[in-house]
Amino acid sequence: MCGIIAITRNPEAAYEQPLAGILIDCLERLEYRGYDSAGIALLVGGMENDGADDAAIWRIRAAVSKQSLKELRKHAPSAPGPPRSDSAGIGHTRWATHGRPSEQNAHPHLDCTGNIAVVHNGIVENWRELAEELSRSGHELASETDSELIAHLIEDELRMDTSTQLHGIEATRRALQRITGSFAIAVLDTRLDGGLVVARRLSPLVVGMGGGMCMAASDLPALLGLSGNYYVLEDGEIAELTPESITAQDLDGHARTLHPIHVSWDIEAAQKSGYDDFMGKELHEQPAAVMDTLLGRFVSDGKLALDETRITDDELREVDKVFIVGCGSSFHSGLVVKHALEHWTRIPTEIDISSEFRYRDPILSSSSLVIGVSQSGETMDTLQAIHLARQLNAKVLAVSNVVDSSITRQSDGVLYTRAGPEIGVAATKTFSTQIVALQMLALYIAQLRGILYNDETSLIMDQLRDLPRLMRHALDRDEAVKSVAEDIAGQRDLFYIGRNTGYPVALEGALKMKEIAYLRAEAYPAGELKHGPIALIEPGTVVLAIATKGRLQKKMHANISEVKSRGAKVIAVANDGDTSTAALADHVLYVPETVSLLAPVVDVIPLQLLAYHVARFRGCDVDRPRNLAKTVTVE
Ligand code: G6P
Repeated sequence: MCGIIAITRNPEAAYEQPLAGILIDCLERLEYRGYDSAGIALLVGGMENDGADDAAIWRIRAAVSKQSLKELRKHAPSAPGPPRSDSAGIGHTRWATHGRPSEQNAHPHLDCTGNIAVVHNGIVENWRELAEELSRSGHELASETDSELIAHLIEDELRMDTSTQLHGIEATRRALQRITGSFAIAVLDTRLDGGLVVARRLSPLVVGMGGGMCMAASDLPALLGLSGNYYVLEDGEIAELTPESITAQDLDGHARTLHPIHVSWDIEAAQKSGYDDFMGKELHEQPAAVMDTLLGRFVSDGKLALDETRITDDELREVDKVFIVGCGSSFHSGLVVKHALEHWTRIPTEIDISSEFRYRDPILSSSSLVIGVSQSGETMDTLQAIHLARQLNAKVLAVSNVVDSSITRQSDGVLYTRAGPEIGVAATKTFSTQIVALQMLALYIAQLRGILYNDETSLIMDQLRDLPRLMRHALDRDEAVKSVAEDIAGQRDLFYIGRNTGYPVALEGALKMKEIAYLRAEAYPAGELKHGPIALIEPGTVVLAIATKGRLQKKMHANISEVKSRGAKVIAVANDGDTSTAALADHVLYVPETVSLLAPVVDVIPLQLLAYHVARFRGCDVDRPRNLAKTVTVE
């Protein structure tokens, strides 16, 4: 998840503010989308009076986490350039996915000639194949990113079609047809005489027009105040921007009409995309985050593309025990995936809270695989746990959301979640993306060990790819969850029960309620209730029961009856159309059905929404809950 901006303005006009300054201001408002590096590119020179075209691209980039924009400002021109020279530019603030945060990997990226600059948000799924193809045809790649390939692909199209001199948008359109995956891009090209090309597939992009300028950005906050008229570029569209016009077509070259959008947000609301808080926004970003995490991972030969690996397939094949370590929600994602890992790989899997693992004298060897799960990659307890694992010769693999974080540097292999920055303290989109990342890893190990055949892995990957759609349906029930939240907002104590993969869902739902609504919420394996906790159930006690379909659903029904008969008010999470659960519960939070091993990322959504709404009804600050920190770097 990165932020992109592109502006073209009248080259004849005299401006007070240099374009570089405007681009950096816009990037500041997109920094919530990523901040590990940033850069801008400007068109300089241009058509002289004598007709000579000396247009060139001037570029500046910086990679100083959270300080990159300050760095850019220090070195950017402080006064407008001469006419023609200061009329078009693009900018980018990065959240690294392919290639570590560094100046070399920062956008904009250039083609070999230096006449094409590209900023990109998204993932080029077929980047390996394209990189090989481009290298074979003589392109020199200067970065480790998938994004740079787009600049070279455009150059390639121009090289291949010298006869017809591909006009403006055409080379980019053809280049994008060679890409699988997602993109929102802006292209600055010296041939376009101050114009720009922008396009999107699956990643967001809005365009604006007004005041002698046309512009595009990943999100509205960047454009507010610059333009009065905004339009959504639809999925699969490409547009050419000049200072006075925007001309759109689809990626097959058919003309398209842009539809205006009405904007009533102020800048602060816009940074949260209209949500009142970051947690609300991040909750709703989960389907996109899961989709990004899945994109391009299983490459054509059936191999899982780990982001960094010093573990060989042979070593993975030899693993005889897996340990997953993490804290908070990251620990819960490990608990969810233990079931799939053991079922698919048949390797015994232990899950540990990081701070317990390191002091319990674990039995590890060179055939143990320790997976450290950490959104931030900086949690001290998890870092210490993986240190211990390395000392004991185990292989260590990190699952993290932050490229080049400490945990990733200290591990033998890395699989990144691609959730983008999570600002709300309570984990939401990073929890769901950790689960799918770990599931892909489990599938890969199962395939390597010959327990799952490639076609079985493909079938499960298809089911994983369907999760974003199902998650969106679950999120669509927000209003129904809100009305249940209103009903229980005055409670003090809540119980969450579940079985199998429903138990970690219960734990995560209860953790959200504790963290942001400050209610005593305890989660139990439903079968364990009768061994103590049931003594606490009295008339009116609220019990959340995860009762979606699966082989243990009947047993969950029995547990619901046990608490009902003691007067509990039961709120069940159940699948659409499930009348048998509805007949037992006081309220039902409906979710779409999927296979049990994958269901947690869907089933957890109503529980996240419930905690969110209860917290808001209780007047709590959901983004900054008391006593908590997003990243805990102390023991
Ligand atoms: C803190 C956060 C939790 C998070 C946990 C682990 O306690 O408040 O939301 O789950 O740390 O963080 P990590 O970055 O290691 O996933």
